[in-house]
Amino acid sequence: MTELAAPLALPRRDPALIDYLSTRRSAPAQALAGPGPSDEDLQAILRIGLRTPDHGKLFPWRLVVLSADTRAALGHALQPLADDQPDPNKARAVLAKLTAPPVTIMVVSTPVRGHKVPVWEQELSAGALAMNLSHAAFAHGFSASWITDWYAYDPRALGLFGIGEGERIAGFIHMGTLECPPMERPRPDPADKVVRR
Ligand SMILES: Cc1cc2nc3c(=O)[nH]c(=O)nc-3n(C[C@H](O)[C@H](O)[C@H](O)COP(=O)(O)O)c2cc1C
Repeated sequence: MTELAAPLALPRRDPALIDYLSTRRSAPAQALAGPGPSDEDLQAILRIGLRTPDHGKLFPWRLVVLSADTRAALGHALQPLADDQPDPNKARAVLAKLTAPPVTIMVVSTPVRGHKVPVWEQELSAGALAMNLSHAAFAHGFSASWITDWYAYDPRALGLFGIGEGERIAGFIHMGTLECPPMERPRPDPADKVVRR
Protein backbone atom coordinates (compact mmCIF):
# COMPACT_ATOMS: atom_id res chain seq x y z
CA MET A 1 0.00 0.00 0.00
CA THR A 2 1.39 3.47 -0.87
CA GLU A 3 1.92 6.02 1.89
CA LEU A 4 -0.45 9.02 2.11
CA ALA A 5 2.25 11.71 2.12
CA ALA A 6 1.98 14.64 -0.26
CA PRO A 7 -1.06 16.36 -1.80
CA LEU A 8 -1.62 15.56 -5.46
CA ALA A 9 -1.73 18.18 -8.24
CA LEU A 10 -4.97 19.86 -9.28
CA PRO A 11 -6.12 19.24 -12.88
CA ARG A 12 -4.97 21.62 -15.59
CA ARG A 13 -6.23 21.90 -19.16
CA ASP A 14 -4.20 19.50 -21.25
CA PRO A 15 -4.78 19.75 -25.03
CA ALA A 16 -2.75 16.60 -25.73
CA LEU A 17 -4.86 14.61 -23.29
CA ILE A 18 -8.08 16.03 -24.76
CA ASP A 19 -6.86 15.13 -28.23
CA TYR A 20 -6.02 11.60 -27.11
CA LEU A 21 -9.39 11.05 -25.41
CA SER A 22 -11.20 12.49 -28.45
CA THR A 23 -9.53 10.14 -30.91
CA ARG A 24 -8.63 7.01 -28.91
CA ARG A 25 -9.59 3.81 -30.68
CA SER A 26 -9.17 0.17 -29.72
CA ALA A 27 -6.90 -2.01 -31.80
CA PRO A 28 -7.94 -5.29 -33.40
CA ALA A 29 -6.24 -7.62 -30.91
CA GLN A 30 -4.97 -10.09 -33.50
CA ALA A 31 -3.22 -7.24 -35.37
CA LEU A 32 -1.19 -6.18 -32.32
CA ALA A 33 2.48 -6.93 -32.94
CA GLY A 34 5.79 -5.96 -31.40
CA PRO A 35 7.11 -3.86 -29.96
CA GLY A 36 5.01 -4.17 -26.85
CA PRO A 37 5.55 -2.43 -23.53
CA SER A 38 8.94 -3.12 -21.93
CA ASP A 39 9.04 -4.51 -18.38
CA GLU A 40 9.56 -0.95 -17.14
CA ASP A 41 6.60 0.33 -19.18
CA LEU A 42 4.50 -2.57 -17.93
CA GLN A 43 5.29 -1.76 -14.29
CA ALA A 44 4.16 1.84 -14.88
CA ILE A 45 1.02 0.69 -16.74
CA LEU A 46 0.12 -1.67 -13.88
CA ARG A 47 0.64 1.07 -11.29
CA ILE A 48 -1.67 3.40 -13.22
CA GLY A 49 -4.25 0.64 -13.37
CA LEU A 50 -4.07 0.08 -9.64
CA ARG A 51 -5.06 3.73 -9.04
CA THR A 52 -8.57 2.93 -10.30
CA PRO A 53 -11.42 4.24 -8.13
CA ASP A 54 -13.43 1.77 -6.08
CA HIS A 55 -16.04 2.28 -3.39
CA GLY A 56 -14.81 1.26 0.04
CA LYS A 57 -11.10 0.63 -0.72
CA LEU A 58 -11.89 -3.01 -1.34
CA PHE A 59 -9.72 -3.16 -4.47
CA PRO A 60 -12.14 -5.81 -5.77
CA TRP A 61 -10.02 -7.03 -8.64
CA ARG A 62 -6.73 -8.72 -9.41
CA LEU A 63 -4.45 -8.66 -12.45
CA VAL A 64 -2.63 -11.51 -14.15
CA VAL A 65 0.10 -10.71 -16.67
CA LEU A 66 -0.12 -13.62 -19.09
CA SER A 67 3.25 -14.26 -20.73
CA ALA A 68 3.46 -15.22 -24.40
CA ASP A 69 4.40 -18.79 -23.38
CA THR A 70 1.45 -19.05 -21.00
CA ARG A 71 -0.91 -17.74 -23.69
CA ALA A 72 0.46 -20.17 -26.27
CA ALA A 73 -0.15 -23.04 -23.82
CA LEU A 74 -3.64 -21.72 -23.03
CA GLY A 75 -4.40 -21.36 -26.74
CA HIS A 76 -3.44 -25.00 -27.18
CA ALA A 77 -5.51 -26.17 -24.19
CA LEU A 78 -8.53 -24.13 -25.35
CA GLN A 79 -8.61 -25.75 -28.82
CA PRO A 80 -10.72 -28.77 -27.76
CA LEU A 81 -13.10 -26.49 -25.85
CA ALA A 82 -13.56 -24.41 -29.00
CA ASP A 83 -15.07 -27.47 -30.68
CA ASP A 84 -18.00 -27.29 -28.24
CA GLN A 85 -18.79 -23.65 -28.99
CA PRO A 86 -21.76 -22.78 -31.24
CA ASP A 87 -19.38 -21.79 -34.07
CA PRO A 88 -16.23 -23.92 -33.56
CA ASN A 89 -14.34 -22.43 -36.52
CA LYS A 90 -14.85 -18.90 -35.24
CA ALA A 91 -14.11 -20.00 -31.67
CA ARG A 92 -10.79 -21.45 -32.83
CA ALA A 93 -9.98 -18.40 -34.98
CA VAL A 94 -10.45 -15.91 -32.16
CA LEU A 95 -7.80 -17.72 -30.10
CA ALA A 96 -5.33 -15.69 -32.22
CA LYS A 97 -6.49 -12.63 -30.29
CA LEU A 98 -5.21 -14.28 -27.14
CA THR A 99 -1.90 -15.51 -28.52
CA ALA A 100 -0.79 -12.82 -31.01
CA PRO A 101 -0.32 -9.65 -28.89
CA PRO A 102 3.06 -9.03 -27.25
CA VAL A 103 1.61 -8.18 -23.82
CA THR A 104 -1.66 -9.25 -22.20
CA ILE A 105 -3.09 -8.43 -18.79
CA MET A 106 -6.10 -10.38 -17.57
CA VAL A 107 -8.41 -8.29 -15.37
CA VAL A 108 -10.27 -10.44 -12.84
CA SER A 109 -13.23 -9.07 -10.90
CA THR A 110 -13.11 -10.35 -7.29
CA PRO A 111 -16.13 -8.77 -5.58
CA VAL A 112 -16.55 -9.08 -1.83
CA ARG A 113 -20.04 -10.55 -1.37
CA GLY A 114 -22.21 -9.54 1.55
CA HIS A 115 -20.37 -6.22 1.87
CA LYS A 116 -22.32 -2.97 2.14
CA VAL A 117 -20.77 -1.87 -1.17
CA PRO A 118 -22.99 -3.52 -3.80
CA VAL A 119 -21.35 -6.15 -6.01
CA TRP A 120 -22.47 -4.09 -9.04
CA GLU A 121 -20.28 -1.18 -7.92
CA GLN A 122 -17.35 -3.50 -7.32
CA GLU A 123 -17.76 -4.97 -10.80
CA LEU A 124 -17.96 -1.48 -12.29
CA SER A 125 -14.60 -0.80 -10.68
CA ALA A 126 -13.11 -3.82 -12.49
CA GLY A 127 -14.36 -2.35 -15.77
CA ALA A 128 -12.84 1.01 -14.89
CA LEU A 129 -9.56 -0.76 -14.16
CA ALA A 130 -9.65 -2.37 -17.59
CA MET A 131 -10.21 1.02 -19.22
CA ASN A 132 -7.46 2.66 -17.16
CA LEU A 133 -5.00 -0.03 -18.20
CA SER A 134 -5.93 0.64 -21.82
CA HIS A 135 -5.40 4.39 -21.35
CA ALA A 136 -2.07 3.69 -19.65
CA ALA A 137 -0.94 1.55 -22.58
CA PHE A 138 -1.85 4.31 -25.06
CA ALA A 139 -0.08 6.91 -22.87
CA HIS A 140 3.08 4.82 -23.18
CA GLY A 141 2.78 4.81 -26.97
CA PHE A 142 1.10 1.46 -27.52
CA SER A 143 -2.23 0.40 -28.95
CA ALA A 144 -4.55 -1.65 -26.78
CA SER A 145 -7.62 -3.82 -27.01
CA TRP A 146 -10.06 -4.76 -24.23
CA ILE A 147 -11.84 -7.95 -25.15
CA THR A 148 -13.42 -10.95 -23.50
CA ASP A 149 -14.34 -13.68 -26.06
CA TRP A 150 -15.99 -17.03 -25.32
CA TYR A 151 -13.21 -18.32 -23.07
CA ALA A 152 -14.00 -15.56 -20.56
CA TYR A 153 -17.35 -17.31 -19.95
CA ASP A 154 -16.82 -21.02 -20.60
CA PRO A 155 -16.64 -22.74 -17.16
CA ARG A 156 -13.91 -25.16 -18.27
CA ALA A 157 -11.88 -22.31 -19.77
CA LEU A 158 -12.19 -20.37 -16.53
CA GLY A 159 -10.51 -23.28 -14.78
CA LEU A 160 -7.59 -23.08 -17.22
CA PHE A 161 -7.23 -19.36 -16.46
CA GLY A 162 -7.26 -20.03 -12.71
CA ILE A 163 -10.48 -18.12 -12.08
CA GLY A 164 -11.82 -18.91 -8.61
CA GLU A 165 -15.33 -19.22 -7.20
CA GLY A 166 -17.14 -15.88 -7.29
CA GLU A 167 -14.59 -14.33 -9.65
CA ARG A 168 -15.19 -13.22 -13.23
CA ILE A 169 -12.94 -12.20 -16.09
CA ALA A 170 -13.60 -8.51 -16.75
CA GLY A 171 -11.45 -8.70 -19.84
CA PHE A 172 -8.09 -9.19 -21.43
CA ILE A 173 -6.16 -6.00 -22.11
CA HIS A 174 -3.91 -6.74 -25.05
CA MET A 175 -1.13 -4.27 -25.85
CA GLY A 176 1.28 -3.81 -28.71
CA THR A 177 1.89 -1.91 -31.91
CA LEU A 178 -0.30 -1.61 -35.01
CA GLU A 179 1.16 -1.40 -38.49
CA CYS A 180 -1.66 0.93 -39.66
CA PRO A 181 -3.89 3.25 -37.64
CA PRO A 182 -7.37 1.84 -36.99
CA MET A 183 -10.47 3.08 -38.82
CA GLU A 184 -13.00 5.12 -36.87
CA ARG A 185 -16.18 3.35 -35.79
CA PRO A 186 -19.67 4.88 -35.50
CA ARG A 187 -20.14 6.97 -32.37
CA PRO A 188 -23.47 7.97 -30.88
CA ASP A 189 -24.80 11.45 -31.41
CA PRO A 190 -24.90 13.23 -28.03
CA ALA A 191 -28.50 14.21 -28.79
CA ASP A 192 -29.44 10.51 -28.70
CA LYS A 193 -27.70 9.70 -25.43
CA VAL A 194 -27.61 12.87 -23.36
CA VAL A 195 -30.42 14.84 -21.79
CA ARG A 196 -30.15 17.97 -19.70
CA ARG A 197 -32.67 18.26 -16.93
C1 LIG B 1 -16.25 -5.55 -21.97
C2 LIG B 1 -15.85 -5.64 -23.42
C3 LIG B 1 -15.78 -6.89 -24.00
C4 LIG B 1 -15.42 -7.02 -25.35
N1 LIG B 1 -15.34 -8.26 -25.90
C5 LIG B 1 -15.00 -8.39 -27.19
C6 LIG B 1 -14.95 -9.67 -27.79
O1 LIG B 1 -15.23 -10.68 -27.15
N2 LIG B 1 -14.60 -9.75 -29.09
C7 LIG B 1 -14.29 -8.62 -29.82
O2 LIG B 1 -13.97 -8.74 -30.99
N3 LIG B 1 -14.33 -7.41 -29.28
C8 LIG B 1 -14.68 -7.26 -27.99
N4 LIG B 1 -14.71 -6.02 -27.42
C9 LIG B 1 -14.26 -4.85 -28.22
C10 LIG B 1 -15.43 -4.16 -28.93
O3 LIG B 1 -16.02 -5.08 -29.84
C11 LIG B 1 -14.95 -2.95 -29.71
O4 LIG B 1 -13.88 -3.30 -30.55
C12 LIG B 1 -14.49 -1.85 -28.81
O5 LIG B 1 -15.41 -1.61 -27.80
C13 LIG B 1 -14.26 -0.62 -29.67
O6 LIG B 1 -14.12 0.47 -28.82
P1 LIG B 1 -13.34 1.79 -29.24
O7 LIG B 1 -13.34 1.90 -30.72
O8 LIG B 1 -14.08 2.90 -28.58
O9 LIG B 1 -11.98 1.66 -28.70
C14 LIG B 1 -15.10 -5.86 -26.10
C15 LIG B 1 -15.17 -4.60 -25.48
C16 LIG B 1 -15.54 -4.49 -24.17
C17 LIG B 1 -15.60 -3.12 -23.53
